[in-house]
Amino acid sequence: MSEFDIINFENRLMANVFAKRPLVITRGKGALVWDVKGKEYVDCMGSYGVALLGHSHPKVVEAVCKQAETLISCHASLYNDKRTEFLQKLMSITPTGLNKAFLSNSGAESVECAIKLARKFTGKPEIITVMGAFHGKTMGALSATWDRKYREPFQPLVPEFKHVPPDNPEKLNEAVTDKTAAVLLEPIRGEGGVRVPPDGFLAGARELCDEKGVLLILDEVQTSFGRTGKLFGCEHWGVIPDVMCLAKPFAGGLPIGITVAKGNIMVSFKIGEHSSTFSGSPLVCAAACAAIDALVEDKLADRAGTMGGYFKAKLEELQAKYKIVKEVRGLGLMLGMELRYDVRNIIIKAMDRGVLILDAGRNVLRFLPPLVITKEQIDKTISVLDEVIGEEENER
Ligand SMILES: Cc1ncc(COP(=O)(O)O)c(C=O)c1O
Repeated sequence: MSEFDIINFENRLMANVFAKRPLVITRGKGALVWDVKGKEYVDCMGSYGVALLGHSHPKVVEAVCKQAETLISCHASLYNDKRTEFLQKLMSITPTGLNKAFLSNSGAESVECAIKLARKFTGKPEIITVMGAFHGKTMGALSATWDRKYREPFQPLVPEFKHVPPDNPEKLNEAVTDKTAAVLLEPIRGEGGVRVPPDGFLAGARELCDEKGVLLILDEVQTSFGRTGKLFGCEHWGVIPDVMCLAKPFAGGLPIGITVAKGNIMVSFKIGEHSSTFSGSPLVCAAACAAIDALVEDKLADRAGTMGGYFKAKLEELQAKYKIVKEVRGLGLMLGMELRYDVRNIIIKAMDRGVLILDAGRNVLRFLPPLVITKEQIDKTISVLDEVIGEEENER
């Protein structure tokens, strides 16, 4: 099918909810993808953080092919060897005490489960999140998400969600009441502009929750699996939540959501109170086992730390060179560059020159490349950015 036909059919046949770029990607390997005409791109979008291991990681490909020939689906009301193997591997990497999981299919679903679990465990209704938070777009997750343009068309949302100013211990403290079930935070706000909290904020939130007897839920959908240089973002601040939401890269590119909690909390769900038809399918679990093996054996969290340091230093050189660059921030290979203007032109121009970049709000370029990205691929990204930011600055 021609590029023209693919674009037209997708536009016609699929709900128009994505801000599409005029690009048809048909193949990927490592941190590179190719379009339908064979043109190569450095993929700093990384499928919004899903392609963390690199596209078509050989271990994941092998595991998926083998499992597809053995057993693809098996409802969670029956037991399965791959599911058990995955749960054991998962618990070998999760922070101490987080040892019982509900498996689903997406980040939003992992958040939905956490919200229900907090209400069930505490018997209280209220969830406190922050302004600028992003937790997904299903009705419960959307109620926790901040951005007005996502929320307003769908009101009324789920009641008893409260948003407080971010990174502000006093406001968080004031917001907690005897109706509060949980505080829900992203360790680093991704969609909200790649915002790293000040040291002490997350530990303070942990202390507050302990003091007031409310749960701390961390949404690690974007910050986990080595992305920030540690297996989980919360490790940067030595904080262990009561409930953690995981998704994006955990199954090497296949759909997965995981809500992992302290055992005494997860057992408050009784049979039938939560479920999902695809929960822990053998195919996805086989992919997730291979993904964890690849992450651990290839020491990708360490690699995110070193390559992220290199990438960030190069972005900071651009910040020093161009007035339109306001700030560079992030940890590991979760990086953001805030500009003084809309970044849309820069993203489109970079795409034309072979580099895919994400945004995070109007003014922020976001980089979530596969952790296997090489120095040469980072250098190419930087040289393309140097050109396009230079052109933008000259035009202002
Ligand atoms: C922190 C966070 N939570 C939840 C979600 C929602 O995940 P999904 O799109 O898989 O539902 C996202 C997606 O970007 C996210 O970044």
